[in-house]
Amino acid sequence: MNKALIEVYGCQMNAAEAERMAGELERIGYEPTDSRDDADVIILHTCCVRESAEEKIYGKLGELKGLKRQRPNLILGISGCMAQKEAASLFKRAPHLDFVLGTGELTKLADMVQLIADGHKRIAATTLTDEPPPERAFPIRRGAVSAWIPIMYGCDNFCTYCIVPYVRGRERSRSPKDIIAEAEAALAEGYGELTLLGQNVNSYGKGSGGVDFADLLAAVDKLDELKRLRFMTSHPKDTSDRLIKVMAEGEHIAPHIHLPAQHGSDSILKAMNRGYTAAHYLALVKKIRAAVPRVALTTDIIVGFPGETEEDFRQTLDLVRKARFDAAYTFLYSPRSGTRAADFPNQVPEEVKKRRLAELMDAQNAVSLSVNETYLGQTAEVLVEGASKSDPAVWTGRTDTGKIVLWPHQNEKIGELAQVIVEKCQTWVLKGRLK
Ligand code: 5AD
Ligand code: SF4
Repeated sequence: MNKALIEVYGCQMNAAEAERMAGELERIGYEPTDSRDDADVIILHTCCVRESAEEKIYGKLGELKGLKRQRPNLILGISGCMAQKEAASLFKRAPHLDFVLGTGELTKLADMVQLIADGHKRIAATTLTDEPPPERAFPIRRGAVSAWIPIMYGCDNFCTYCIVPYVRGRERSRSPKDIIAEAEAALAEGYGELTLLGQNVNSYGKGSGGVDFADLLAAVDKLDELKRLRFMTSHPKDTSDRLIKVMAEGEHIAPHIHLPAQHGSDSILKAMNRGYTAAHYLALVKKIRAAVPRVALTTDIIVGFPGETEEDFRQTLDLVRKARFDAAYTFLYSPRSGTRAADFPNQVPEEVKKRRLAELMDAQNAVSLSVNETYLGQTAEVLVEGASKSDPAVWTGRTDTGKIVLWPHQNEKIGELAQVIVEKCQTWVLKGRLK
């Protein structure tokens, strides 16, 4: 059999899509490989949410130039968000590329590879439609215990900093029937944990008059063999009381919500077009914590949005301390051409952004450590993932709240639930021993 390597950059949605692309390629005789050396096809599945993501991909394309020279039959493609954004112009910067496949064209992957193998040169397909993607996915899953299930594609929110609505198009939801069928198949394959994915899962099914996200979550929660159910990403403006109730009453729904706050200043939140104030956000957090007491809260935060003053930034620090996030993914604002904020006046100088980011990370690390310290002496139930990277005798898994736990392995098996007494709490991991 021929071999295909799909290198994934960016978010979980990209990871999920790459698994589906690997399935498409297997149908036409390409089995997955992790090595560039024995690959007949190499595809970069890309991100463009920040400029640094794109620079990284240009670097990777540069690396692949030499490989293509040595092995002219090697097929090189680029897909995903950056492919969508840059389209055929990528052939100018990387003439050794064979194809460019946009976010709405992934189901054409097999045809594309076949055309190139038949001798066609430099093809780009980057049409974006409002149609839901065709349902013919047979993913080759890469997770040890956890399966990604995309439930919706695209985003209609147009946060002023964000390129996603332009490169992934309008919100489209998969049908509940197709989602349940995929969830059942993944459970039958032995994946105990499912993660429902979308840019904005809370608006799943919007406008259809049928099943909404709370209904969908409750329905998946009832499936046999399910150990844990996760979902991401939630938008604060769309997180409904019904969703919180379903989380509280769920049997296997993990007490974790990824709820990007983005900022702590009301004027910046307004300029970002987020649709809530810091006070609304904190009130929502309070409501979620009251209903789901063990809940872990994670977030995304941007520093250095245009016009951000020192006082605005202090309000972000204040929010971080009040919300007590388990973890925060923190980003330097990166202007993306085509988005509204890229043209806003008062762009913040790079060195100011960097200083603020460092200060924010220090503040959040202190909060993360203090949240993790509440696990000391407790018994944590972990879903066993296997040996850790650094030491085969030390195994790793996660709690339902998403904490990474390390312990000396005895005879527990991958995919089982194990009980670990937590003896040491750090900013990113908990360490302990089996109960
Ligand atoms: N600059 C910096 N961070 C961004 N994000 C989205 N767009 C940008 C940008 N232009 C961040 C947001 C989002 C996360 C996935 O990436 O915080 O939630
Ligand atoms: Fe981007 Fe906002 Fe949509 Fe998230 S909700 S993908 S930040 S536009």
